[in-house]
Amino acid sequence: MKRIQISAYGTPAEVAACVDVPDVGEPGPGEVVFDVLAFPINPADLWFCRGSYRLKPPLPATPGAECVGRVAAVGAGVGHVKPGDLVINLQRENWAARRRVKGEDVIPLPAGIDLRQAAMVRINPPTAMLLLTDIVPVQPGEWVIQNVANSAVGKLLIRLAKTRGLKTVNVVRREALFPELKAIGADVCVVDGPELDARVKAATGAAPIRLGIDAVAGEATGRIAECLADGGTVCTYGSMTGEDPIVHRSALIYRGISLTGFMLGRGLAKRSAAEVRTIYAELAAQIMSGALSAPVERVYPIEEIKAALARADQGERTGKILVVPNGPI
Ligand SMILES: NC(=O)c1ccc[n+]([C@@H]2O[C@H](COP(=O)([O-])OP(=O)(O)OC[C@H]3O[C@@H](n4cnc5c(N)ncnc54)[C@H](OP(=O)(O)O)[C@@H]3O)[C@@H](O)[C@H]2O)c1
Repeated sequence: MKRIQISAYGTPAEVAACVDVPDVGEPGPGEVVFDVLAFPINPADLWFCRGSYRLKPPLPATPGAECVGRVAAVGAGVGHVKPGDLVINLQRENWAARRRVKGEDVIPLPAGIDLRQAAMVRINPPTAMLLLTDIVPVQPGEWVIQNVANSAVGKLLIRLAKTRGLKTVNVVRREALFPELKAIGADVCVVDGPELDARVKAATGAAPIRLGIDAVAGEATGRIAECLADGGTVCTYGSMTGEDPIVHRSALIYRGISLTGFMLGRGLAKRSAAEVRTIYAELAAQIMSGALSAPVERVYPIEEIKAALARADQGERTGKILVVPNGPI
């Protein structure tokens, strides 16, 4: 079977290769074997290949924080999924044609769910959801501000905020994105840069904003902080610049701005297994109803992993890059 392997840490398209490896075998007691139908390439996967992610296993290693699969076989004692069911896997190393994993790590998805959206449900949708619930108790009618608003997380956050009655200020790198973001529910769109706070005040009528959400880091974090009301919180959950967040001391000291961080793993670890399953069931239901989706730019066969990684590593994409290890979906 095919699997993606990196044999050195470096430029993703150079270090990753599609290799033939022995099949995973039959499931043992409590295990599930599933065929991987599709996986996305997320920024964290690219950093994993570069060796700059928080996890840096000995090599060779297989990336892949998420995927959607179809159960091929289950071992003794597994009752919550059966062959044919669609599943996501809470563990890593998913860039492969087939996985054999602990039953407790797979979560069933509804039959008939859009497979492309299902491939991306594990990480970005709950991230967008928990960014709106776990940082500041924002209430319907309130504003939140986010950068990378055209990212998968950003677009999901716009949709989830809308369903909660929140208004969003969406910061991006180019004006051409405004119509697309407004069409999915963005209230205000602005281009990042100098005097962001003045432009946001003008666009929102100087509405107080208590929550700022940042995945650019560097000076961009400080620009989001400047847009917040005194006592507001800026939450950094990523760093597309690769820099650490910079918030000026005047914001922290004079205006009481708080700087915090978010990681999905920590957000889910605070919850019981039943609560985690409920989150995914809710998100899957919203995908099924069409309320929640993230665009896909292109789907590549697993043999074309290098081209897929090269494209995923570029800016100004129109959506996620997906890879299919077992033929078209
Ligand atoms: N903490 C967590 O648990 C968690 C979970 C999920 C995701 N994340 C983070 O969330 C962020 C978005 O992930 P995603 O999968 O939604 O991303 P994505 O769909 O792949 O989109 C990437 C985004 O980053 C922007 N970007 C790229 N380079 C940039 C730069 N140098 N400066 C500013 N913006 C830049 C792109 O803008 P252009 O279109 O202008 O190129 C695009 O909006 C990433 O940082 C990711 O690591 C964190």
